[in-house]
Amino acid sequence: MAAFTLAHLSDPHLSPLPRPRLIELAGKRALGYINWTRNRYKYHRRDVLDVLVSDLHTQTPNQIAVTGDLVNLAMEAEFPLALAWLKTIGPPDRVTAIPGNHDAYVRQTRLHFAKSFADYFCGDENAVGPPSFPSLRRRGPLALISLSSAVPTAPFMATGRIGPEQLAALERLLETLSTEQVFRVLLVHHPLRSTNRMKWLTDAADLIALLKRHGVELILHGHDHVHSTVWIDGPERQIPVVGVPSASSIAHGHYPAAAYNLFAIAREGNHWRCDMTVRGINDALRVREIRQVRLF
Ligand SMILES: [Fe+2]
Ligand SMILES: [Fe+2]
Repeated sequence: MAAFTLAHLSDPHLSPLPRPRLIELAGKRALGYINWTRNRYKYHRRDVLDVLVSDLHTQTPNQIAVTGDLVNLAMEAEFPLALAWLKTIGPPDRVTAIPGNHDAYVRQTRLHFAKSFADYFCGDENAVGPPSFPSLRRRGPLALISLSSAVPTAPFMATGRIGPEQLAALERLLETLSTEQVFRVLLVHHPLRSTNRMKWLTDAADLIALLKRHGVELILHGHDHVHSTVWIDGPERQIPVVGVPSASSIAHGHYPAAAYNLFAIAREGNHWRCDMTVRGINDALRVREIRQVRLF
């Protein structure tokens, strides 16, 4: 059986930033805007993102996951632009997108992501009421489970939180899936292991404990803007937790240039096989394969 391919990109931090209205530049957004106009605009480039995405399309993945931080300051005008961009990645049945902290940057627009991108994360089942997290989408052998860790935070903070309601619903969902032969992929913006109190997932310990009880096959995240693979305990074996650089970034400081990961997933006898290919841009803004890793 041919492998099912899942592409993962994250943190496009779309540019150019629309001109803010004066009323939008208060509190946290004012600081974020200064940071964008002084620094971040230099590192998150649309031409880089476009080169990376066009390479991704040549790989014709079966499914694409986008793990948050589509926008920057969560201004009203950023959301339609981000939706237009997401449509260029693919239709909602082939692309799953979850929010990052920048998509819920301030309280006023914290629900905009859910409204604008519902088609891109809603579960397969027609739930009563608006789509919510966690959601479950079945694609080929995958059970794609989306979480939201995106919450507004104080200035200089970029922490995330899942919350007890999502965790309880996730536990029920994983109990339901436990009798099925599906490859469970968990999407969450924040990494699970972080020592940075300004940026970490505040209830990561609860999520890690839940995953130790129920397990999934693979966890994908963004937020840190670096290549990362760590392993956490599952009920029977370890679970890879994989992060990618920002999809629009040039290399700067300790941040690598934009990249995405491709996972080839296939059933072999009684086991899953999962191979990861990392593709990223070089100094000449060309995309090439960086490495291949067999996760299991
Ligand atoms: Fe980000
Ligand atoms: Fe983030």
